[in-house]
Amino acid sequence: MALRPFHPETRIDRDRRGADALPASADSAPGASPGGALPTVAPTRIVGGSMAHRRAHGQITDLRGVHVYDPAFRPQDAEALRRFAAPDQRGPLVVEIGFQLGRFARGYCTLHPEARYLGFEIRRKFVEQADAFLERGGCTNRRLALCDAREALPELVSAGSVHAIYALFPDPWWKSRHRKRRLIDREFAALAAHLLVPGGELLVKTDVLGYAAWAAGELAAVRGLEVHWLSDRTAGLPPSRRERGCIERGLPTWALRARRLDGVAVEILPETNPFDTADDAALAASEPLAGDVRWR
Ligand SMILES: C[S@@+](CC[C@H](N)C(=O)[O-])C[C@H]1O[C@@H](n2cnc3c(N)ncnc32)[C@H](O)[C@@H]1O
Repeated sequence: MALRPFHPETRIDRDRRGADALPASADSAPGASPGGALPTVAPTRIVGGSMAHRRAHGQITDLRGVHVYDPAFRPQDAEALRRFAAPDQRGPLVVEIGFQLGRFARGYCTLHPEARYLGFEIRRKFVEQADAFLERGGCTNRRLALCDAREALPELVSAGSVHAIYALFPDPWWKSRHRKRRLIDREFAALAAHLLVPGGELLVKTDVLGYAAWAAGELAAVRGLEVHWLSDRTAGLPPSRRERGCIERGLPTWALRARRLDGVAVEILPETNPFDTADDAALAASEPLAGDVRWR
């Protein structure tokens, strides 16, 4: 798979600055206990109701499926997922956020039966439908959680234990006043950086250039991640449902890879996002996007 920075002079790898001088953060050590030092995302920003909110309101779900879990309500489900994701288990742990109908999951689990696939989805009907779809595909290496990944990940997964996190075609939240609801922001990127093994990746795909650019700016604001635009926009991965739709209709997509740097402490930098704009024309004309990314 060919990787290339989106612009030779402006590759987003600010995190390399002083990398050698920085000690690894204690909470990025493999095997660190879940929930402990990992950052959490402010509950007000949770889409679909935070786990604390759902718990407080006593909702009960009778989730149907073979490998489906409701960690917000069922402590035994949370415990089962913790065991599944534990660093001493065999096989690389991969996480998908927003698996919807499970199209990518089925492709991935089939290609990588050795991997432990842990998926998060906030909509119950998708969890149940995806589970049935994956069951028909014989994907026994899956676990599907009904909850907001941003809130659940620190509770369920140890720091430095995840090989890949896939955020495929996250909801774009077009309006600028809704932008704060986007999955990818620097706080989520920092959480991902804490969770990833050295060399592990957070992979983001989208068909919204504004989101891709904005996400690049947010990912680049986290020391400890090295961000690349991928020239192979499939990233060599099975397509998600939305990606398949884009391919069939000839629409462009973008892919970003944020790689966890070894031995670099995770830190959110106080930098403004250079691509925090709703002005598509400005985005199209901006360096380095104009040089490398096709504008649709
Ligand atoms: C635009 S859809 C993309 C679905 C699929 N990944 C694809 O590429 O076809 C986004 C999905 O993410 C889910 N989602 C949004 N925020 C989430 C979160 N914080 N945790 C888990 N799932 C989330 C939504 O319910 C929705 O199914």
